[in-house]
Amino acid sequence: MQESKISYLDTVDELNLYLNKNLNNDNSIIFVDSNVKSEYEFDENYNIHEVLVNEETKNITIVEKIWEIMHSNSATRSTNIICIGGGVLCDVVGFATSIYKRGANLILVPTSLLAMVDASHGGKNGINNNYGKNQIGTFYLPSDVLVCVEFLKSLNKEEINTGLIEAIKAGFIGNKLILDLAYEDIIRLGRLYFPNPYLDLIQLAIDVKTKITKEDLKESDTRMYLNFGHTIGHLIESDSNYQISHGQAVGIGILIALEISEKEYNLDKSYKKNYMTFLNNSGLKSHYKFQKSRSELMTILSNDKKVNNAKINFVLLEEIEKPVLKEVDIEQAMDLILDE
Ligand SMILES: NC(=O)c1ccc[n+]([C@@H]2O[C@H](COP(=O)([O-])OP(=O)(O)OC[C@H]3O[C@@H](n4cnc5c(N)ncnc54)[C@H](O)[C@@H]3O)[C@@H](O)[C@H]2O)c1
Repeated sequence: MQESKISYLDTVDELNLYLNKNLNNDNSIIFVDSNVKSEYEFDENYNIHEVLVNEETKNITIVEKIWEIMHSNSATRSTNIICIGGGVLCDVVGFATSIYKRGANLILVPTSLLAMVDASHGGKNGINNNYGKNQIGTFYLPSDVLVCVEFLKSLNKEEINTGLIEAIKAGFIGNKLILDLAYEDIIRLGRLYFPNPYLDLIQLAIDVKTKITKEDLKESDTRMYLNFGHTIGHLIESDSNYQISHGQAVGIGILIALEISEKEYNLDKSYKKNYMTFLNNSGLKSHYKFQKSRSELMTILSNDKKVNNAKINFVLLEEIEKPVLKEVDIEQAMDLILDE
């Protein structure tokens, strides 16, 4: 199977040099997130287009605008489409590129921590429409992912936390060293980006994701492990009418999944205890009280992408680094969630 080449760069200057050396500016188009463009200098010899996008506008209209730019710049299948942005822009440009002339060359430069450790790897992309979030999309691997940690300098604390939660998820399912790194208070000390002895955290989390997606690109089996904490997280987001952020909701989702794993598999209690301390130290919530009734919650859960024949695949931990899929019916799932 094709794999993405992942390169690690310390600074945006190094990124500019890398692009110059490897990607001919005559045959490249750069799409850059507006919030990133205002913070960093990019080589003006490239054909650069600023894109303002967020979760509400992550839809087919923005994809059409991107196609229009590709077309008016005579992009072909061999054109390098370079996306510099967070997970939203990576998903949008990834999707647009995957079907433009049946697929041009995609290079992702993730700028948020979540996009660095998660969204830019594994080939999934997607846009939202009235059927729901990420309901339209393809699997399309970028040829290159360029991880440049200097971008983290301008990312706010909430976005850092969102990314850290995904890195911690990777720690639970694939490499517990990530937990040790994340629990040191590396963000507030400013050591995550520069100079960066902790690039390890990002690299290790990426290794977990790419190993899993290499084995099961299309999510027929083990890729579901990456949903650890997410089924409950999505339920919390929806229950709160999206007043609770995704990172925060998944953070609590992981906590509940750890509690269920203690009961079902006797998972060592120290994992939950240490994780809870981390949530509290980071200013993240460690408790959530559902607002909706049990039957309303069951309806939401039934609409989850992971539900098949009224059965849901919960990702739990038999042990640290040993995720398992537990198939439960919706009633039982509600018992497990509301019991916590
Ligand atoms: N394809 C996948 O496998 C996958 C996996 C996980 C999440 N996702 C998707 O990722 C999206 C969330 O990504 P996200 O959390 O990066 O959100 P985002 O792209 O909206 O970025 C968050 C905010 O940070 C800003 N930003 C990004 N980088 C910055 C930087 N370096 N400095 C200052 N501001 C910066 C953005 O403009 C935005 O306002 C969701 O749409 C989700 O569906 C995709």
